[in-house]
Amino acid sequence: MNSTPDDNGDESLYPIAVLIDELKNEDVALRLNSVKRLSTIALALGEERTRKELIPFLNDSSEDEDEVLLAMAEELGRFVPYVGGPNHAHELLVPLESLCCTEETVVRDKAVESMSKVGQDLPESSVAESFIPLVKRLATGEWFTSRVSACGLFASAYRRAGSTQRADLRAMYRDLCADDTPMVRRSAASNLGKFAEVVEPEMINKELIPQFQNLTVDEQDSVRLLTVDGCGPLARLLPKDDAVRSILPIVQNFSQDKSWRVRYNVAQQLCQMCDALGPEVSRRELVPAFVRLLRDSEAEVRVAAAGKVSVFCKQLANDQVMQAVLPCVKELSSDSSQYVRAALAAVVMELAPVLGKAATIDSLLPVFLSLLKDEFPDVRLNIISKLDQVNQVIGIDLLAQSLLPAIEELAEDKHWRVRLAIIEYIPLLASQLGADFFEEKLGPQCMRWLQDSVYSIREAATRNLMKLAQEFGPEWARDHLVPPVLGMVNNPHYLYRMTVLVAIASLAPVVSHDVLCATMLPVVVSCSKDKVPNIKFNVAKMLEKLVPLVDASVVERTIKPCLLELHEDADVDVRFFAHQALSSCDAVTAA
Ligand SMILES: *[C@@H]1O[C@H](CO)[C@@H](O)[C@H](O)[C@H]1NC(C)=O
Ligand SMILES: *[C@@H]1O[C@H](CO)[C@@H](O)[C@H](O)[C@H]1NC(C)=O
Ligand SMILES: *[C@@H]1O[C@H](CO)[C@@H](O)[C@H](O)[C@H]1NC(C)=O
Repeated sequence: MNSTPDDNGDESLYPIAVLIDELKNEDVALRLNSVKRLSTIALALGEERTRKELIPFLNDSSEDEDEVLLAMAEELGRFVPYVGGPNHAHELLVPLESLCCTEETVVRDKAVESMSKVGQDLPESSVAESFIPLVKRLATGEWFTSRVSACGLFASAYRRAGSTQRADLRAMYRDLCADDTPMVRRSAASNLGKFAEVVEPEMINKELIPQFQNLTVDEQDSVRLLTVDGCGPLARLLPKDDAVRSILPIVQNFSQDKSWRVRYNVAQQLCQMCDALGPEVSRRELVPAFVRLLRDSEAEVRVAAAGKVSVFCKQLANDQVMQAVLPCVKELSSDSSQYVRAALAAVVMELAPVLGKAATIDSLLPVFLSLLKDEFPDVRLNIISKLDQVNQVIGIDLLAQSLLPAIEELAEDKHWRVRLAIIEYIPLLASQLGADFFEEKLGPQCMRWLQDSVYSIREAATRNLMKLAQEFGPEWARDHLVPPVLGMVNNPHYLYRMTVLVAIASLAPVVSHDVLCATMLPVVVSCSKDKVPNIKFNVAKMLEKLVPLVDASVVERTIKPCLLELHEDADVDVRFFAHQALSSCDAVTAA
């Protein structure tokens, strides 16, 4: 039998034996590859042989490498159509159950995800006969791996279960929350919120909350850490009064937990808890917890809390922000950890709209200024990237007066990423400042960037010139951009001469035809006499770009003669690009 693929590459023409052989191949890469094409194999086999041959074979393959098992777990989640639809879907539970018991966490997690998917497709009868018994079997399995997986299946099993089975499942979840193995309690803790979403409301208070409370005081940090995740979902599911009575004290205790990882997680999620508990309760009860986290002894916790300052403050009344949070913000702006300052810098500008103009000027501007001068470049960058938010609140005049000196300084920052961020902000700043003020304050700097030692800065500088020309118009560009750019054409360093060419090319479409032909083109032509071949072939490329922008007569009179000369150059690259440009000329003059 011929076992090579058909010429047209149709995989369904692969003999089945070859496909199965590949699944048994000693080479992991080949096995992985064929597992990723399991659906093709199943299609070739047909539904019945997929059920009778392929699925049992896969069930026996659960000892493979993790990456193969992971791919298998994923594929099986999409396999219902290949075994004959929902009525046969329970057969997929067999290999998935084996995968739920493997040692590798990612494989188990994927198997749980796929099993939940398949579980939703099962008909009633299969739920009762196969799915629920399977979840119970896993939940009481001898190995902790099966119990860990079981926790993730309760939500989808409960959704489909009848009332007797539901009571059983709830009892089993209680046992899992109190399991001797911390790994199982961890899984129970992190799945509790999802489980609660499908449990009847009255049962949440009666049964789940006591289990949850036990988990919140678990002796293992890692269990409490994951229990934090349940606070938001549970608070949302409970009636407001119940949530305040049972969840709020837990959040407050968590924010003072002895493990910083737990406190870190609370800082991350406090805003969701505020959403669940409502603004009134948040304002009254959670502000002290937040302030405590902002002043936490552990830098990681302060990073997490600082990053939430503006979102949290949006829930508060103005005077509360001023009295409770702003003092912390001031402290954090000179925190000993650069990461805390960077986290604050990324969001602190968003406080301006919350506080309004007067308070921003009085209280926030000093903070911005000190962060703009921070020794850590990420801090400065984070502030720059949000400047427009402040602008909208205090207006451009004040922004210019107070922040422009700092911006001028950053334009020459020793870190090129900071310089780049400033350049990218320039067109926006220009539109706000207006032509005259801009020219006076930042014009010379825009030219200096063209001679930066870093290529990305020079490139950004040429883009910036084009945007400025678009903003202020062709006449402004003629008076303020073209002369200084052309003036740099004799720079002794050829890289800067090259930048001038690029700058000319980016300004060319914006300036008038007159300026282009009378002022800029002669400079480009003069560069064709440069001694560096690199410059010369770039002249050829530039001229090609200018061809569509100028009259045919200019092409004939000026551009073509120059290119013809380059076409005879000693350097092969120069000749090549001159030749290309000449073809473009001919296309235009012919048309
Ligand atoms: C599936 O594999 C498990 C071992 O991983 C085995 O105990 C079980 O009997 C197999 N089931 C079938 C139906 O082959
Ligand atoms: C919570 O823990 C206590 C003490 O270990 C135990 O007696 C109680 O049954 C637990 N509650 C639940 C709902 O598991
Ligand atoms: C909060 O912590 C205190 C002191 O450790 C403790 O007495 C109280 O029971 C805890 N409250 C909750 C809801 O866990």
